[in-house]
Amino acid sequence: MASDTSSVLAEDRPDAAASQAALQVEANAKFAQAVLDGLARPLRSLPSRFLYDERGSELFEDITRLKEYYPTRAETALLQTHGADIARHVGDADILVEFGSGSSRKTSLLINALKGLGTYIPIDVSETYLTEAAEWLAAQHDDLTIAPLIGDFTKIDALPETAQGHKVVGFFSGSTIGNLIREEANAFLRNAAHLLGQDSAFLVAIDLKKSPDILIPAYDDAEGVSAAFSLNLLTRINRELEGDFDIARFAHRAIYNEGQGRIEIYLESLTGQTVSVLGRDFAFSEGERIHTEFSHKYSLEGFRALAATASWRGVTAWTDPDGLFSLHLLRFG
Ligand code: TRP
Repeated sequence: MASDTSSVLAEDRPDAAASQAALQVEANAKFAQAVLDGLARPLRSLPSRFLYDERGSELFEDITRLKEYYPTRAETALLQTHGADIARHVGDADILVEFGSGSSRKTSLLINALKGLGTYIPIDVSETYLTEAAEWLAAQHDDLTIAPLIGDFTKIDALPETAQGHKVVGFFSGSTIGNLIREEANAFLRNAAHLLGQDSAFLVAIDLKKSPDILIPAYDDAEGVSAAFSLNLLTRINRELEGDFDIARFAHRAIYNEGQGRIEIYLESLTGQTVSVLGRDFAFSEGERIHTEFSHKYSLEGFRALAATASWRGVTAWTDPDGLFSLHLLRFG
């Protein structure tokens, strides 16, 4: 992802190219460390953010269009149906801040609804995504200033100076907060309160608890796109970290953990086998799993209670007629 940008920059700005290359080396070192550490644990686990390389991001876009994967469709419909009501509850807002903005496709609907917005600040780790999304959005919203922030949205601790004194609304789409465990979600919400400031509003997408008969296919579809997305992480390790995973001897598993109220995603070894990564050997027994992702599902009250632990007050929530998904409007202070 970042390497595409660096190759464009390299032609006319050698200094910029050098610092891009240095960032790439740093990113590779972090990936290597996370993979070696994660595979060495007794309960093996790989951080889900590494699922999103260029191919992974494409596959995830394909997931959002699957008939089994309801969250993207449900959230889009909520923004379309309730845009005016959401805007009324948000009130006047000058600045929209989005955490993990990705392609910003759903955000356009919110920007249309929030009339009078002056500035959009998308936060994302992917510079490629930010640049592409900013161009796409600028073409649809003439008078909007777009001021992207590159970085991990859990770590950014201040908005630009120019945001001071303005009315701010936050947006956290895709039920991505569900990918955080409870303590991480609490820390994220506290940081967001600090970042967005006193009297800010925060629109948060939350996937709701429901039958495993709906949940499991959403994460393990008939066409195998979810499986391809999951297994692509092993392909990425093979390519970037001298790995020799035999993709045919691992399987994608999505299970629903009722007690924890979450989908758990694993890569499961189908045989006993030894895999090498950067010259280190890892012995797998048959059925042994590598954890990659949690996706927590909440009840409306359950999420309101979590938000309250981070000083956010639940103002209202919108749900679709089937009760699959929700958008919560929170206020701080
Ligand atoms: N953030 C997505 C979610 O929780 C992640 C996801 C969707 C996913 N489908 C997947 C992760 C399949 C691994 C495999 O909804």
